[in-house]
Amino acid sequence: MEKSSSIEHPVLDLIKKRRSVRAFSSEPIEADKINSLFEATRWAPSSSNEQPWVYIYATRNQSELWDKLFEPLNDSNKVWVKDAPLLILSLARKTFSVYGSMNEHAMYDLGGANSFLSLQAVEFGMQVRQMAGFNSGKVVQNLNIPDTYEVGVYIAVGYPGDPSNLPDKLKQREIAPRERFLQQEFVMNRTF
Ligand SMILES: Cc1cc2nc3c(=O)[nH]c(=O)nc-3n(C[C@H](O)[C@H](O)[C@H](O)COP(=O)(O)O)c2cc1C
Repeated sequence: MEKSSSIEHPVLDLIKKRRSVRAFSSEPIEADKINSLFEATRWAPSSSNEQPWVYIYATRNQSELWDKLFEPLNDSNKVWVKDAPLLILSLARKTFSVYGSMNEHAMYDLGGANSFLSLQAVEFGMQVRQMAGFNSGKVVQNLNIPDTYEVGVYIAVGYPGDPSNLPDKLKQREIAPRERFLQQEFVMNRTF
């Protein structure tokens, strides 16, 4: 499948500027900006307007809660997340609050809400990196998560930092050009 590293058609500036970084500056995130990140998720669309997303966050100076969130991460993520000022765990309620039936679109909606959060972060000059690399059993245990919730992804947030502070292997990856499939590989104006 063919890829390129360039933007082939005009898109929003926020989309152009967004990238998943691992190098974060130690600068803390202001409380009002944290509120705005979650406000952005409030206004994401969802199936039946169920808004199934739930977030647990800790700033790095909230050591007790931070450690509970941080511990289940894979070591490959811990090496760089340790310097992020804000760590978020995203979850979704599995059932509709009105009908009690399974909400098959909860994870889809959570992903959409996380994208809103990511773009709001870029608007503030920050970046995020989402992570699926963690032990979900440990997450459930450490944070006492009821089984009516499904664990989504972690999101590390912060102002971009100096890639030269990363371990060598990650340094290279941090500055490498990003590649994407060309539209012709996934957009169809025809049937299969
Ligand atoms: C669901 C999901 C899981 C991811 N898991 C990890 C992870 O565990 N560790 C990591 O370093 N990056 C992770 N990423 C970041 C991706 O590697 C990154 O989004 C991808 O390489 C594209 O780069 P870009 O976001 O800068 O465009 C994850 C992203 C998503 C959306």
